[in-house]
Amino acid sequence: MSMKIPFLKNKQSKESFHFSEDNIPNHIAIIMDGNGRWALKRGMPRFAGHKEGLSTVVKIVKAAVECKVKVLTLYTFSTENWKRPKPERDFILRLPKEFLHVYLPELMSNNVRIEVIGDIENLPDHTREAVQYAINKTRDNDGLQLNMALNYGSRLEILDAMKEMLKDIKDEKLSLDELDEQRFSGYLYTAGMPEPDLLIRTGGEKRLSNFLLWQLAYTEFWFTDVLWPDFSEEDFFHALQEYLQRKRRYGGI
Ligand code: IPE
Ligand code: IPE
Ligand code: MG
Repeated sequence: MSMKIPFLKNKQSKESFHFSEDNIPNHIAIIMDGNGRWALKRGMPRFAGHKEGLSTVVKIVKAAVECKVKVLTLYTFSTENWKRPKPERDFILRLPKEFLHVYLPELMSNNVRIEVIGDIENLPDHTREAVQYAINKTRDNDGLQLNMALNYGSRLEILDAMKEMLKDIKDEKLSLDELDEQRFSGYLYTAGMPEPDLLIRTGGEKRLSNFLLWQLAYTEFWFTDVLWPDFSEEDFFHALQEYLQRKRRYGGI
């Protein structure tokens, strides 16, 4: 079945976006980068860019709902972002609560289920409580799964998974013979989720910054210089369209 994206109909863009439900990516992961530069370019403090970036989050979540993506993972705060000055960190870590306070009813009505991947235990209480509330509130929704990667670092995730796995081996809940890629994946924060089909990074940098190192093994990458606060639905659909033209071979021919 072919879909046309309804809210693009009246836009100036001449291009039309046709997707088929069969080939729309199940899982899109986004490194939302460029907030600080967006603000500095305008002579504003960096936090103004983080604030503006929230409206892009809202737009892109809605776009993902429209085209029936199953999982959208947003890199929100990395384990390395603790290196930033405390006022900036504090500001970023207040945004999930602010976002959920305003948009949770809309997310509910769009049948969105919130999840968090990352070291949630070591988040400030107000951040953890806000996301925990949203996770509980949306747990029965079966539309888009919105994964917030919060205090997320892929190496930490893999190490933690390894520790859990070794504990299970020691407790004889798992034998070395049974251990394979699928079982190991089950120890990651992303257990049970499809691997990302498409990774988008805004802001011009071409690196992973410790994001989903295991899960991105066969993901298609799409980079843009557009800074996250300027990233539009059209940009998102361009990424999707380009993804649809890629030939995924997984090592075959
Ligand atoms: C991404 O924007 C948001 C977070 C890392 C939380 P940045 O804050 O990294 O913006 P730039 O890359 O410095 O422009
Ligand atoms: C990656 O962006 C983390 C998030 C978007 C949350 P960074 O801006 O922190 O990454 P580097 O420092 O450019 O690698
Ligand atoms: Mg950055």
